[in-house]
Amino acid sequence: MNSGREHELFREVFGRFATGVAVITGSGPSGAGGMTANALCSLSLDPLLALVCFENEARTLPIVRDSGRFGVNVLTAGQHQLAGVFASKLPEDEKLDGVPHRIEHGVPLIEASLAWAACELRELAPLLWYSGRYHAVPLD
Ligand SMILES: Cc1cc2nc3c(=O)[nH]c(=O)nc-3n(C[C@H](O)[C@H](O)[C@H](O)COP(=O)(O)O)c2cc1C
Repeated sequence: MNSGREHELFREVFGRFATGVAVITGSGPSGAGGMTANALCSLSLDPLLALVCFENEARTLPIVRDSGRFGVNVLTAGQHQLAGVFASKLPEDEKLDGVPHRIEHGVPLIEASLAWAACELRELAPLLWYSGRYHAVPLD
């Protein structure tokens, strides 16, 4: 268990690592939703892979798991309010209300985003990079 001071230092360091902001969206049998995320990066060009990290408590996670797809909506400067909505715990099915979007490739894509990608889920276990090669975590 880490101490409160260690948490504080961790946040101080990583809070100064500037990132873009995206909304990760999904749509499945239980409805559509999305969450603001910055733990997102492009991972590989061959194969094409992007990495998104979900908190276990994120309600978007089961939507993405069940549908096997997710949308990456890169936000533009000025879309703070939108980021706030998708970072909130508003009822999941209300988050996309009033946000102009379309469903494409089975995922909600936000019209005003800077760039978007519709992704297929490949791994929920982390992909590892070790000794110049990708590896999968052996799961039971
Ligand atoms: C700038 C910013 C970046 C965030 N990045 C992530 C992230 O990468 N992964 C994550 O799980 N949550 C992230 N969050 C927190 C989620 O947006 C937040 O927990 C949200 O309520 C999840 O929504 P959901 O429960 O409807 O899925 C971030 C929040 C903010 C404000």
